[in-house]
Amino acid sequence: MHEIVVVDYGSQYTPLLARRIRELGVFSRIVDSKRFEITKDTKGVILSGGPQSVYERGSLKLPEKIDLTNVPTLGICYGMHLLVESLGGRISAGSSGEYGATIVELEKDELFEGVPDNLKVLMSHGDSVLSLSDDCEVIAKSSRGIVAGIRKDLLRGLQFHPEVCHTEFGKRILANFVRGICKAEGDWSIKVLEKDLIEGIKRHVGEEKVIAGLSGGVDSSVAAVITSRAIGTNLTGVFVDHGLMREREADEILSILRELRMNVRVLDAKDLFFSRLKGVVDPEQKRRVIGEAFIEVFEREARKLGATFLLQGTIMSDVIESGSSSGTSDKIKSHHNVGGLPERMALKLLEPLRQLFKDEVRLLGKSLGIPDGFLNRHPFPGPGLGVRILGEVTPEKAQVLQRADRIFLETLRSKKEDRSSWQAFAVLLPISSVGVKGDRRSYGYVIALRAVDSSEGMTATSHEFPWHVLKEAASRIVGEIPQVSRVVYDLTDKPPATIEWE
Ligand code: XMP
Repeated sequence: MHEIVVVDYGSQYTPLLARRIRELGVFSRIVDSKRFEITKDTKGVILSGGPQSVYERGSLKLPEKIDLTNVPTLGICYGMHLLVESLGGRISAGSSGEYGATIVELEKDELFEGVPDNLKVLMSHGDSVLSLSDDCEVIAKSSRGIVAGIRKDLLRGLQFHPEVCHTEFGKRILANFVRGICKAEGDWSIKVLEKDLIEGIKRHVGEEKVIAGLSGGVDSSVAAVITSRAIGTNLTGVFVDHGLMREREADEILSILRELRMNVRVLDAKDLFFSRLKGVVDPEQKRRVIGEAFIEVFEREARKLGATFLLQGTIMSDVIESGSSSGTSDKIKSHHNVGGLPERMALKLLEPLRQLFKDEVRLLGKSLGIPDGFLNRHPFPGPGLGVRILGEVTPEKAQVLQRADRIFLETLRSKKEDRSSWQAFAVLLPISSVGVKGDRRSYGYVIALRAVDSSEGMTATSHEFPWHVLKEAASRIVGEIPQVSRVVYDLTDKPPATIEWE
């Protein structure tokens, strides 16, 4: 089976690169630059981006064993800088970085076959090419004149990220590299993945018992269904009711999980979670506290069941944003089922979806027979409304937020806008604001509404609803919830913001 090897230099987007290649039907694996090996099946190499600068002391280098004259290689951002240096050019810190959408102008090249000459791309870098060796050609330039693409024989470099959906024709560019320049062929598919995962879980778990932490989200449910296919009744699902779910959501989720014939237990842990969250305001601390409370509940239950494994629906974006597997990417936040786990835990972790992205998880769920309506639910963070109540979390604030969130989603549903964005929710801010309700002064909470368009949660743009939809949601929230005096809409993209506020 042909493969493309992705060398990880710590970019947030490295796993996305591997995933895009799998989407093209070609197997792809991620390797560390120090453990680089290729096989007779390796048709090409991609060097990822990364947070370092190539001129920094101790920065990661090209793999020692790479033969750039023999294997087609595409360097992206940091990866391109490594290629430029190795060819005798120089990289320097730009006077100002380029972050976000930029227009680049493309020259004729196999990499850009079928791609327009002017392209909107995602840039995210502070360094740029200062000089190039004579035999290296520029194949793309940004509107500010910065080198955005280079070529030499089998080598290509791009300053921008073709792997994110905010780069136009990004998939086409990667396809041109993989299928055109590398001549890789393959028929990798979700069915192959499903079979491999089931076999892997069987081997890993053997005859031991597994307890599944069900958050009600798509990821933990798909993880549970695939594990139950592998080990049957040795799996028990545990749904922790922590009081930080959306209104009425716990009941809806349970009925769906039971329809899927999952063996599910519900544990009421509201008091435990709220008491642990008392006085906690720091977002990272909050994520840790919630993670620890979950584990406490799971461990107690596991002892009763005789389980030795804890199954979690951790997916790739959780892993990346909690710090990359190679340890070189910046930690954005501790996703509770990754960075928020206590160091010492009696249970072994089982995370079969760790290499997958949200939309791959949905495809896998579909292939496992999970209904579309369930798979297409909006993503919901593991720590629940805990990371949508900024500042201290209290039962009263949770109730206010649940109501605001329900009104927002109800309004979207009534205007047939509930499926137009990738994710939509309300956030409760830790400030109060003055208003006037029925001739009386009010002084209450501020609710922020957030909705984004995205395909894998790694990048996102704020969603544009028709104005009247937002106005109606805002007026209902302020009108129906006495504690709220103002509603605002979040216009920020990711990057630079994240989707959740904490
Ligand atoms: P951020 O806020 O990091 O969110 O841009 C990206 C996507 O991940 C969801 N999210 C989480 N999911 N555990 C999860 O399972 C978490 O701790 C967590 N934090 C954020 C978020 O809702 C968005 O879809």
